[in-house]
Amino acid sequence: MSKNVLVTGGAGFIGRNMIRGMLGDGYHITSLDNFKIGGWEHIPEDIRDHVEWVQGDTRNIDLLMQVVKGKDSVIHLAAPSSFLMYEEDPVGGASVTTHGFINLLEAMRRQGLGKLVYASTSAVYEGNPVPYVESMKLSPPDLKALSKKWNEEVARQYSERYGITVIGMRPFSVYGHDEFSKGGYANVISLFVWAVLNDVIPVVWGDGRQTRDFIYVEDAGRAFQTALERDLATQEFNVGTGVETSFNEVLSLIGEELGKEIEPKFVDVPIAIYAQRLMADVSRAVEVLGFQHEVDVREGIRRVIKAARGAQSTQKWPGISSAQMYFETLPAS
Ligand SMILES: NC(=O)c1ccc[n+]([C@@H]2O[C@H](COP(=O)([O-])OP(=O)(O)OC[C@H]3O[C@@H](n4cnc5c(N)ncnc54)[C@H](O)[C@@H]3O)[C@@H](O)[C@H]2O)c1
Repeated sequence: MSKNVLVTGGAGFIGRNMIRGMLGDGYHITSLDNFKIGGWEHIPEDIRDHVEWVQGDTRNIDLLMQVVKGKDSVIHLAAPSSFLMYEEDPVGGASVTTHGFINLLEAMRRQGLGKLVYASTSAVYEGNPVPYVESMKLSPPDLKALSKKWNEEVARQYSERYGITVIGMRPFSVYGHDEFSKGGYANVISLFVWAVLNDVIPVVWGDGRQTRDFIYVEDAGRAFQTALERDLATQEFNVGTGVETSFNEVLSLIGEELGKEIEPKFVDVPIAIYAQRLMADVSRAVEVLGFQHEVDVREGIRRVIKAARGAQSTQKWPGISSAQMYFETLPAS
């Protein structure tokens, strides 16, 4: 298998960590990123110096035509990662997610590329009972999930009409050691750890009993790489662990690791659409991809704490208290 791959959004959280694994496995990576979230300063040197970086926007089809040329396949990650980003900028969020996606498929079709692996989201399942299974009917209630579901439908068309294999990955709650680039949009595990290390009281929406399927960023990256390497038909895969963890459990794990009693502040959920439970059925990923997570949530939290402690005195350390305030002051919708 040839290993000349374009990664969009390679400077981002999942991208950086996925690329590290792929470089280790001998891939040649070109990355297209606008560096708006994954800033240059957040890309570790071991990755920065071994990737061909192209700065630009996925909505520029001429640029996409150039960057896909000569590549064997593409992994597409460039899109807003947090539903809060769509709450703040619905037009921008939907535009990047839909326009960028069709541009990419169209550029691939014109340049004769045959395989795309891209990030959809577990949010497409919202409204369904857990565990979420890939075959479920989808009626996503918010713009982020709807835009990603549209990607999945366009993917099917390009697959059926033009023979491009398009694999949709549905990540659950991705967290990990170097999420500083996201600031207030980071995963709750990072936000809670950063708050506690900063002596700020963590703010929890609701009663803390809501659950997520937390998957470590390196595991998530490996799932994308595995999907690229397998000979597959167009389909979607959950990228999760099959384990549900509540926010209260996350806080007590952080407390245990830090030897602290954490007393969060519970506030009313400030948005209209908010999932109480998220959990993946991982059967298809295990059986078809041969993918399983390796890092459990306790080990993942240890790594987040270690990285945060290491970053506290550096420029990477984000404005933690403002991140927490953001959650508190988001206007009710
Ligand atoms: N992190 C999660 O928990 C999670 C969960 C479900 C789905 N996803 C999806 O996974 C993908 C990657 O997420 P992430 O956590 O690494 O996010 P991220 O914000 O860290 O990375 C996204 C990267 O894409 C770049 N980008 C954004 N818009 C762009 C554009 N128009 N043109 C070029 N570059 C652009 C950003 O600068 C950033 O480097 C996203 O598509 C996201 O929706 C993430």
